[in-house]
Amino acid sequence: MKSRYILPFLLLLSHNVLLHCASAAVHSHSVDNNLERESDGSYRSRDYDHYNDAGHNSEFDHEAILGSVKEAEEYDKLSPEESERRLSLLLEKMDLNGDQYIDRKELKLWILNSFINLSREEAEERMSEVDDNRDGTVSWPEYLQDAFGVDAEEEIGPEDTGDSGMLLQEEKEMFKAADINGDGSLDLFEFEVFTNPEEHAPMHPYLVNQTLREKDRNNDGKIDFDEYVGDRGSHEDKAWMISERDKFDHELDLDGDGSLDLMEIEKWVIPDNDEIAEEEVEHLVATADEDRDGALSFAEVLRHRHVFVGSDQRHALGEHFDDEL
Ligand SMILES: *[C@@H]1O[C@H](CO)[C@@H](O)[C@H](O)[C@H]1NC(C)=O
Ligand SMILES: *[C@@H]1O[C@H](CO)[C@@H](O)[C@H](O)[C@H]1NC(C)=O
Repeated sequence: MKSRYILPFLLLLSHNVLLHCASAAVHSHSVDNNLERESDGSYRSRDYDHYNDAGHNSEFDHEAILGSVKEAEEYDKLSPEESERRLSLLLEKMDLNGDQYIDRKELKLWILNSFINLSREEAEERMSEVDDNRDGTVSWPEYLQDAFGVDAEEEIGPEDTGDSGMLLQEEKEMFKAADINGDGSLDLFEFEVFTNPEEHAPMHPYLVNQTLREKDRNNDGKIDFDEYVGDRGSHEDKAWMISERDKFDHELDLDGDGSLDLMEIEKWVIPDNDEIAEEEVEHLVATADEDRDGALSFAEVLRHRHVFVGSDQRHALGEHFDDEL
């Protein structure tokens, strides 16, 4: 029993060590090691690991329904009966009009709320690392110490970036913007805005500006294809270049004028939670709507509960279930 807890503990430990090393290495200009960003500099979407090299990863589905990573892990340890009982209670809450069906609209609203809850949970965890004096808020010096590993701003060079790939000045402006009541430190909600800026529209202009600072070499306020590729081009092959060109032309450069303006940069670097929630609704409905009436009855969800909330004991024992087929 005990050994089950050792691996997560080690992972946690190495994660902290990684973060710590990243803070020590304030001279790094690369965002490659950043856990929150893709290699092109865009922010990772909530579902970035939903389909990975190993195929479909149901953890994202569970988190989208439960709104909590901790709870999703807990569900994996429940008996089938307990898992079913708890899911039934959730369904009652999800079913806003009380017709005993979860329709697409109800499911989408629920998932969007889950994203908010996940974001809060992430902020809580991060806060417990940063809030050194345990007063429930994060002051600028506390953040400085955590993200840059220094006590004073003077120790940071103008070109040095912290864990998030941002310059001190950029972080400082974002800290101010997130400090909604202007009292100099961030409470949990403000800290959540600060640490998950991609999920808060008022913060988006800062992220767009940061992207320009990193990529817009000729300072014309736009990003052309060469700037978009940047240094990444030198260690990639021709096929990579062709696929990036295709992505640039057909997904990012919406007006087809050869470069990305502020609006196009925002659409590229900021994940669209609304779209992600819609895709997740389609995925879950396709999986569980047995009679194809476009809505999920409670019974349909319960029959597919390992897709929605967790694998319960059969999965924990290593058996593989795949409802996608
Ligand atoms: C989000 O959290 C609130 C407060 O803890 C809870 O009442 C709600 O059911 C959660 N919603 C989702 C979608 O997880
Ligand atoms: C972004 O950069 C522009 C141009 O330098 C500036 O006018 C604007 O205030 C910046 N926005 C934010 C949120 O920093």
